[in-house]
Amino acid sequence: MHAFICPLCHTSFLTKNNTKICQNNHHFDIAKEGYLNLLPVQAKSSKNPGDNKKMMQARRAFLNSEGYRPMADKLCELVTKKLLGKSAPHILDLGCGEGYYTNLLANSLSPEAHVSALDISKVAIRYAAKRYKTISFCVASAYAVPLVDSSLDAIIRIYAPSLESELQRLIKPGAYLFTVTPAPRHLFQLREKIYTHVNEHISSHNAPLGFHKVDSVNVNYILSIDNAQILHDLIQMTPFAWKFNPQKMQDLLNARKWKIECDFNIEIYQKSAPSLT
Ligand SMILES: C[S@@+](CC[C@H](N)C(=O)[O-])C[C@H]1O[C@@H](n2cnc3c(N)ncnc32)[C@H](O)[C@@H]1O
Ligand SMILES: [Zn+2]
Repeated sequence: MHAFICPLCHTSFLTKNNTKICQNNHHFDIAKEGYLNLLPVQAKSSKNPGDNKKMMQARRAFLNSEGYRPMADKLCELVTKKLLGKSAPHILDLGCGEGYYTNLLANSLSPEAHVSALDISKVAIRYAAKRYKTISFCVASAYAVPLVDSSLDAIIRIYAPSLESELQRLIKPGAYLFTVTPAPRHLFQLREKIYTHVNEHISSHNAPLGFHKVDSVNVNYILSIDNAQILHDLIQMTPFAWKFNPQKMQDLLNARKWKIECDFNIEIYQKSAPSLT
């Protein structure tokens, strides 16, 4: 059962055949894979916003190799701990891509948990919904999330954009926001092949307005890769893929075995309870 609401008038849906119909008679088809496309045409910045098929397929292929599994396992452990004791928590994976982490999160929670996930990329959501049947997927923007106010026990945001006011609106008082971002040494050995001086970029992690930070966990490990296709997929899903010219790429691929540092920060923020005054 989807928890999504009408993106145009924010009323709830009834289901009729393969269509969702809101109280003001706006119609949205349920795709054959089971997802909803709730992105209004006027909210699209381009014909096909978000990650394209090539980026999405590279991400799926790399994630399937379990190269980022240590981070995913840590994230699942942290989310599960914070939701312990909630009878039927509702979580949202914001900018979920092709659903790899969403599925691991869903599997680590109790069966009563409701897991919603959205991405602005239709191709990513189509792949996600085809593979993971128990999760409610929709195509929508993180800047206008079609869910009711104060309905979420947690939002998980892994390398995806968001809007502070939407995080504030959606998360229940006292509930949580989890973010995953690259830490300074993430993919250092790839970046040093591109840049003469690799900056250990320090990103700031200020709590969004209305939240306070409750924990910060670093996940750091060396990833060994001995398959050129997996390395290629990893590069294709990074923002610096286009910086590899054919010569640099060939030099890198000649090595045949690679050791690459993975470095992530998981931040946990809690929404402050409203003051009593
Ligand atoms: C780097 S990918 C991360 C995907 C996934 N969380 C993961 O880690 O595998 C960023 C994702 O954000 C999505 N995205 C970009 N802008 C968005 C927006 N305004 N609303 C929702 N998703 C967006 C992209 O389509 C892409 O799938
Ligand atoms: Zn409507």
